[in-house]
This record gives sequence, structure tokens and C-alpha cells, in this order.
Amino acid sequence: MRMKNKYRKSTPFGCNAGSRCSLSFVVWGLVGCVLLLHLYSLISHGDKLEGSREFHLNHFQLTRELEETQDEGFQIPPPRGKRSPRAAKRRPKRPTTLIEEFLDENSQFRHLFFPDQGTAIDPMMEAGNDSLHFYPGSMWLDTDGNPIQAHGEGFCMLRNWGCTTGTEKTRMVPHTMLTKKELHGGLTHLSVTELKIKVDIIGVSCYSSKDLWTWKNEGVVLAGEETDLTHDLYKLNVLERPKVIYNDKTGKYVMWMHIDDTNYTKASVGVAVSDYPIGPFDYLYSKQPHGFDSRDMTIFKDDDGVAYLIYSSDDNSELHIGPLTDDYLDVTRVMNRVLVGQHREAPALFKYERTYYMITSGCTGWSPNEAHAHAAESVMGPWETMGNPCIGGNKVSRDTTFFAQSTYVLPLPMLHGLYIFMADRWNPAALNDSRYVWLPMTVKGAADKPLDYNFGFPLWPRVSIFWHKRWKLPNGWNG
Ligand code: GAL
Repeated sequence: MRMKNKYRKSTPFGCNAGSRCSLSFVVWGLVGCVLLLHLYSLISHGDKLEGSREFHLNHFQLTRELEETQDEGFQIPPPRGKRSPRAAKRRPKRPTTLIEEFLDENSQFRHLFFPDQGTAIDPMMEAGNDSLHFYPGSMWLDTDGNPIQAHGEGFCMLRNWGCTTGTEKTRMVPHTMLTKKELHGGLTHLSVTELKIKVDIIGVSCYSSKDLWTWKNEGVVLAGEETDLTHDLYKLNVLERPKVIYNDKTGKYVMWMHIDDTNYTKASVGVAVSDYPIGPFDYLYSKQPHGFDSRDMTIFKDDDGVAYLIYSSDDNSELHIGPLTDDYLDVTRVMNRVLVGQHREAPALFKYERTYYMITSGCTGWSPNEAHAHAAESVMGPWETMGNPCIGGNKVSRDTTFFAQSTYVLPLPMLHGLYIFMADRWNPAALNDSRYVWLPMTVKGAADKPLDYNFGFPLWPRVSIFWHKRWKLPNGWNG
């Protein structure tokens, strides 16, 4: 063995080829290569990052202000002046809670929740500083100077414009029919809404806008029925949460809504159809989908054109979700039960990248409660609950969804990950004076809570709804 080694050549490093030294040479060579590769990938990744950083920077600059929450929320001001000696002897009055004040129509703090007409947003009068600003909870006037009647609304985006649906809760509005030319030439966004006074169905109203701030009343697109007691839309019945989607295959606009009788025992969905988003809609029928009771509901159209009905069922204890038929006029036989036992309603669905999200409320009638955000890999579930998305304000307002209830989430396609969260601040004493709470919402950042029924944190980002007393969309939101 020794003899053989004697004849081995020495390397410039003073080692013999094939010995331990050549092994270390190979190892060092490999390390060098790896370092070079790493350096190369850092440089090329740096280039890519530069691009995406630019995008995120712009995006960040645009939305940063909207993510700065306002902490001052609703607070009951301390009583003014001293209590009289007689009053002081009496048992101290139990302080009322904000919720009690909210629900008390005679509360002296009513204006905190339902600011009066003097503070109404009037796009026809506003110029300068207040232009294009949303004031959640304030009265909002249309271009005729009347309060907008678009409760439980939805929004239907089509090419460069869209339409929303909701109910009118005041009076019969004369129906205006626009031609297709007027529609495509002049309108950017349309709002169709649920219309009724207390329990009286007036119909579904429609508003249009180019900037989401100035709304023109397009009239009633589906009217209530005045005399026929057997009709689903008979004025003493219930029509809530109408939503419209466009069917690319049939070229029709299809409206789904919650149909009920005065006592909410019919628990059905209704379907109507139109050639135009601003109607008139032909009412087709109502049914209990999949044979189950159905109350609060929404519809969601996925990127592949498949649309889904989501409704609170089994006495609001769970949600049901199932695809619609190709023409969107009915449900198919496929249905999954989701969020079973969680008692959620007022669902508003949206999609971010490849994940589905939903905001829901608890079931406390017209009284506000805590919103939850949910997420799912597949729209059919299983859905995970991620907790309360509300940020800012104070604890009571966060726990009451800023005294409102979810109805719709509007994506802003030019601002990836930024949405408008749309909610109703119900005024049960005067439903026609219910207000709109529109707030900026993002999907980003780490989750702050482990998932329910699971010890892990979710893989998907946090959904956040930011409280603002006053805010506006960033410039460039619509391209
Ligand atoms: C709520 C529901 C509203 C309306 C109300 C009637 O729970 O979200 O849409 O139905 O009950 O009390």
C-alpha cells in the first residue's frame, strides 16, 4: 500500500491527487458553485422583487391611509351638570350600554348612530373637501336629493360598470325604463335594492353611479303586489337582500332574493329575470331550495361562471351552499352544509387569489352583532372561521360590526386585495331610515388568532375591515 502511494502525483496544494485533499477541493468547488448560484438567484430575484416592490409600493401608498384606523368610536358623553341632592339620594341609575342606546329610538344619543339630515351626504351640493367622501351611518342622498333606498343591497359588476340590488323601504317610486344604449353609454354602476316600509314590500329599487358616490335613482325594477294576496310579492309579505348576477350564456340578468311571509315562516328564495340590469324584472317563482328553509341569502358568481346560492337554514343554525343551474334560474341537487351549528346569517362572499372568503353576522334580528370572517379552499367548503375582522372604533363598535350587518363585499379590481365592505345599519323603528356603512376592507397580513376547531393558525391572510368616520377611495381605484 505504501509503495503505491509513493508514486502518486503531488498537487499544487502539496497534496496527492485522490487523497483527502482532492476531496476537500471538490467540496470547496461545490460550495463555490452553490454560492455563485445563490448570488445569481439573488440578483435575478432582486430584479423581480424590484417590479413587485414597485407594485406593492404603489398599492401600499394608495391604500395606506385606509388602513390607518380611527380609534375614536361611539361613546356616550358624560352627563352634564351636577345631580340634584334629591336625585343623588335615589339609587344611582344603572348606566345604559351603547347597544341599549342604539336600540332605543328615543335615546338622546340617537344622532350618534343616525346623524340627522343636516349632515347628509349630498353629492349634488358637495364640492371641494367632502367630494367623494363616504360617511358611514350618515344619511345619503341621491341625485334628486332623496335619501337612497337601497337596503340589503348587492352589486353586480359588468365590464366597466355594474349594478347593485336592495330594497326600498319608503314609498312607491315610478319605474323608469332605460334603453340598452343609455345603459351602456351612460352608466357605470347600478344599485338595485330591497324596497319596503316595515313589512310592506314596495319592491326592488335600482340606482346607478359612475363613481360609487353619486347615485341616480333608476326606479323600481321589481314592484311589490298591491292587491293579489296570494302573490309572493304581496305588500304584506317580506322581500329582502335581492342580488343580481349576469348570465354570460343566456345574456339575462337574474335576481335572487329572500321571500317570506309576515311571520318569516315561508323561508324561501325567489327568482326574477330581466334582459337589462335595471329591469323590469319578471318574477318567476319562489321555493325552499333543496327542500330546506332559507332566510338570509346571497349569490356568488365564480371566475369560471358557475354561480352559487348560499343561505341560512335549519332555523339559521347553519349555512347551505350549492351551485345554480347553468341558466342561474334554479338550484341543482348538489348542496353542502357549512358552518354547522354556528348560527350565522347575512353572508357576503368574495374571492381573493384562489381562496374564498365570507363575512357573516350572528342571528339577532335587526340588532347588530359581531361579524365573523370565514375562509375556504373550495367554495363548497369546508369553511373555517377566522374571527372578527373589524379594526378601529372601540370595543363595542367592533363587536357590533360598527352597529351594522353585512350585505355585500365589492371587489375593486384595480386595487388587488382592497374591497368595500357594505353593511346595513338597521333602524328597526323606521326601516326606511336605515343607513349604509361602507368601509375599506383588505385581505392581507398574518392572522391574529388560531382557527376554531383547530390548533393551527390559518394559512390564509387576515381579513380586516377598518373603521373610518370619513374616507374616500384612493385615486386610480377604477383604472
Ligand atoms: C335579520 C336579517 C335581516 C332581517 C331581519 C328581520 O336577522 O339579517 O335580513 O331578516 O333579521 O328581523
